[in-house]
Amino acid sequence: MKKLLDLITEEMEQAFAKAGYDGKYARVTLSNRPDLCEYQCNGAMAAAKEYHKAPIMIADAVVEALEGTRILQDVQAVNPGFINLKVNAEFLSSYLNGMLEDERLGYEKTDAPETIMIDYGGPNVAKPLHVGHLRSAIIGESVKRIARFAGHRVIGDVHLGDWGLQMGLIITELKERKPGLGYFDEAYEGDYPEEAPFTIAELEEIYPTASGKSKEDASYKEAAMQATFQLQQGRRGYQALLKHILNVSVADLKRNYANLNVDFDLWKGESDVQPYIPDMVQEMRDKGYAHMSDGALVVDIREESDTKEVPPCMILKSDGASLYTTTDLATIVERMKLYHPDRIVYVVDKRQEMHFVQVFRCARKCGLVTEDTRLQFLGFGTMNGKDGKPFKTREGGVMRLQYLLSDINEEMLKKIQESRPMSEEEAEEIAKVVGLSAVKYGDLSNQASKDYIFDVDRFTSSEGNTGPYILYTVVRIKSILKKYGEQGGEAADARIMECENESEKALMRELARFNSVMENVYEELAPHKICAYIYDLANAFNRFYHETSILGTEEEARKHSRIRLLVLTRRVLETCMDLLGFEAPERM
Ligand code: ARG
Repeated sequence: MKKLLDLITEEMEQAFAKAGYDGKYARVTLSNRPDLCEYQCNGAMAAAKEYHKAPIMIADAVVEALEGTRILQDVQAVNPGFINLKVNAEFLSSYLNGMLEDERLGYEKTDAPETIMIDYGGPNVAKPLHVGHLRSAIIGESVKRIARFAGHRVIGDVHLGDWGLQMGLIITELKERKPGLGYFDEAYEGDYPEEAPFTIAELEEIYPTASGKSKEDASYKEAAMQATFQLQQGRRGYQALLKHILNVSVADLKRNYANLNVDFDLWKGESDVQPYIPDMVQEMRDKGYAHMSDGALVVDIREESDTKEVPPCMILKSDGASLYTTTDLATIVERMKLYHPDRIVYVVDKRQEMHFVQVFRCARKCGLVTEDTRLQFLGFGTMNGKDGKPFKTREGGVMRLQYLLSDINEEMLKKIQESRPMSEEEAEEIAKVVGLSAVKYGDLSNQASKDYIFDVDRFTSSEGNTGPYILYTVVRIKSILKKYGEQGGEAADARIMECENESEKALMRELARFNSVMENVYEELAPHKICAYIYDLANAFNRFYHETSILGTEEEARKHSRIRLLVLTRRVLETCMDLLGFEAPERM
């Protein structure tokens, strides 16, 4: 469906033309004086210069030309030349009926679908998930859903960090504990067991232990670095251990992400792309892009317009080892080969921006991507505690994701139990669903690039700009619709009638904005704009609800119309919530 604002603008263009003025002056915007009008057009002011006339004369002529309009009502020219507009109530309700009939609520799919890869999550295998990974998962998941809803082919890749020193540390610690295992015997040529020689609980304990030891004991650290090197050189037993570590950890990660309503199409990692490195590096050398500098292999990527120093992109260290950049470049090679993306979006902590500037420039310079492949860094800010400093546990340690989520759930449970009597089981179930909305909305309602303060109390509140407030609104609608059904009501074929009062019209206008909001949300990959929209929509609905009787409406047709308006409000809210990655319970 065309956007409401575009329809209004077209109507104004015709009126300008009919009055003898150029349609380019007809641009319409939302009113900044909602007490006077809903939309406004200031074009007469600009046109006055071209036509050497008083703006009010032009405005008057345009208003006259609007005589008989089906789209607008209460059109007024006011000094010095503004045109104040309201949308015609009948036209507005027919627009909403169009939305009701359309399964996409009037938001059209793109006619130029692209293949878009989203690189998000980025957990490091065997290390606990921390709050930074939470942001990547929440934002990335939403961006993925937004792009998919726009009609693109979208592939989400978790891009595991499974190629670093943590692997060597785990191997070293395992060797210390179970030296007899075949994995450590270099002479062994047989098969290795299917079963991992550790559980997830052990693995979670092994990494911090090993990491602690390596900080105290230089020879232990040396051993871990050696093990990492041998693993990366392909030592059989270590490769087999890597597989076990991956299997055990990925199973656990999948559980954790499922609890967050986050899922990935690809579970690839840094280790998967290592085979691409030798050829990629060879080609960079052959084509003269890479050169030696202080023993390391680098690619220069400075550009004339740089205002700050962009260091060369390092491809191989002097000992021949590859780096984080090398792995990201090889990942681009693999992605281009297997998936031919038109665009790759990286949802990563903004402190890694320079790394991505280097990777993107190097990929372009060395021809790893085609000229029109878009590489986009979507950097997010830090989640801080109430003191404005990076989030810590009460004891001052790095905040693990699990703790943070259980903090939220605990607080949510308390609030829910206070709200009405219910069984322990039901309360826990609801707390989980509402808690997730609190975390996700709390995060997504901020522009991604900004730092924000994680405030358990505020996020779990049912009032204000929060996830639970949105859920309360949806649950309120659901319960009215349920009651209506129980009373034997049936409005499936009913149409939304012309609005009767201001708050009803305001709700209708919010609903009609849906396609225009979504278009902008996709363009900017900006989930926070969905939050801002549903907050406005929920407010408009609640105002309407408080001023209007719904089930008590006398006139049958009017009652049905209001029910259909509720159905539409619920669908728009639920569609938006789904794009943000959370849902509402049946009751709260
Ligand atoms: N594993 C990395 C980290 O924890 C994030 C990975 C981001 N994605 C990428 N392609 N580099 O910091």
